[in-house]
Amino acid sequence: QFKPTEALFNRSPIIAVVSIDKAENAVAIARALAEGGVDVIEVTLRTPSALKAIELIARDVPDVAVGAGTVCERSQQQPVLDAGAQFAFSPGATLELLEAYQDSPIPFVPGVASATEVLTAKSYGYSHMKLFPAEVVGGRALLKALGAPMPDIRFCPTGGVRMETAADYLELPNVSCVGGSWLLPAEVQSSGNWAEVTRIAKASLELLRRG
Ligand code: 3PG
Repeated sequence: QFKPTEALFNRSPIIAVVSIDKAENAVAIARALAEGGVDVIEVTLRTPSALKAIELIARDVPDVAVGAGTVCERSQQQPVLDAGAQFAFSPGATLELLEAYQDSPIPFVPGVASATEVLTAKSYGYSHMKLFPAEVVGGRALLKALGAPMPDIRFCPTGGVRMETAADYLELPNVSCVGGSWLLPAEVQSSGNWAEVTRIAKASLELLRRG
């Protein structure tokens, strides 16, 4: 069950977390990110167009992995699957979600913020988790501390991660990738300047290469 999550975590060091206002822009946004080298896209279920956006990206941009973010309830599971999402992220790790996704055909990444939450998710068989909100709950220091007793858990810190801090997170042995919304700033989305999305993605990956 968790091999695909490992593959997802290893696919791109940066996962673009996007809240898409208009579904008709989804394909252009996904293509712009992919052109910049970021080919894993988490579409948050925070806008009315999110599911439609996932559907369009899954259909028209096959070279990206698109999934759902902000999955908070069991009732969202089927719509997310129906939209064609290839993975799902949650900000939390409720027992309801941990259980619902145990037999999921797509990787599910629960959100955790403490040792107890990591152990709870682990007890349900999960080995890949989102640290959320990463900067608020302790960032790198927390990840280092969690890595001591639980070195087998892989994290995707998200929440407050920025282009300039991504590399510091990715240096940690228990961090496979980071997530962030900085790749699609609100003003860029409203102006439709997709070339800027590509530029930010490229610049972010370039920063990682330079370490
Ligand atoms: C998320 O849902 O993962 C976060 O809202 C992303 O956090 P950020 O906006 O601080 O990058």
